[in-house]
Amino acid sequence: MRGLSKKVAIITGGSGAIGQAICQRFSDEGILVGILDINKEKGIEIADEINRKGGTALARQVDITDYNSIVEATYEIESSFGPTDILVNNAGWDRLINFIDTEPSFWNEIISINLIGALNMHHIIVPGMLERQSGKVINIASDAGRVGSSGEAVYSACKGGLIAFTKTLARELARNGICCNAVAPGPVDTPLLRSMIPDGNLDGGLAKAFQKAIPMRRLGEPSDIPGIVAFLASQDSDYITGQIISVSGGLTMHG
Ligand SMILES: NC(=O)c1ccc[n+]([C@@H]2O[C@H](COP(=O)([O-])OP(=O)(O)OC[C@H]3O[C@@H](n4cnc5c(N)ncnc54)[C@H](O)[C@@H]3O)[C@@H](O)[C@H]2O)c1
Repeated sequence: MRGLSKKVAIITGGSGAIGQAICQRFSDEGILVGILDINKEKGIEIADEINRKGGTALARQVDITDYNSIVEATYEIESSFGPTDILVNNAGWDRLINFIDTEPSFWNEIISINLIGALNMHHIIVPGMLERQSGKVINIASDAGRVGSSGEAVYSACKGGLIAFTKTLARELARNGICCNAVAPGPVDTPLLRSMIPDGNLDGGLAKAFQKAIPMRRLGEPSDIPGIVAFLASQDSDYITGQIISVSGGLTMHG
């Protein structure tokens, strides 16, 4: 894809399944990869692997709910790589519980990670993009934020909020050379999905129901996501902003 070589990207949740696939694809495109994740060991492991294969990556342990820790880690990555051209907000977390059975402490946790975390990242990294009048922001939302998802009420509210936030920021920044778009995966076979399914068993009821409902008759794989993220980070998408792209085997089709 055009215009990706030597760009600098920060990817939150880069230690996770979808995050790792995005980091690897970015590196394949010649992008310098900064990983911010609460999981330090896995982040270092992924950065080491990218560096071993001839790419350039750095990992920093960050809790995206902690504003100051992001400021520090971003400073370190930008001191080594240069200013951030591409921001991917991918870190996320959830548990499958009916809303009525949840408590406010659980809502706060979900909102902090899935919504406030992304707001923190934008607030810290977008000002530099504004100065340079150039940047690409890609938010990993979810189809749960477009159509809802049983057992994921607060998470869906966050992802729906992230979608509305992406569109609003896209409007505010459109004349400043900054594109903001979101990717909305359907169910993807990752540790996050497995942690929400009884026994993590993808041959059981819920996973089978998903597979039956998906026109392509399979769950997503982490490798299904990076292509659209790379496209939205590239010059090939310079005239695209404020868009939400579902990657769900046809499960959700929006006009
Ligand atoms: N797997 C799915 O079915 C699915 C569907 C739709 C959307 N998504 C979204 O895709 C993204 C990636 O999910 P995944 O399935 O790869 O999950 P994952 O659990 O494999 O990865 C999530 C990553 O986020 C990190 N993280 C969590 N809280 C953090 C925090 N406070 N600070 C920094 N890092 C934190 C985790 O350590 C982990 O590395 C998430 O935003 C998720 O909501 C996933």
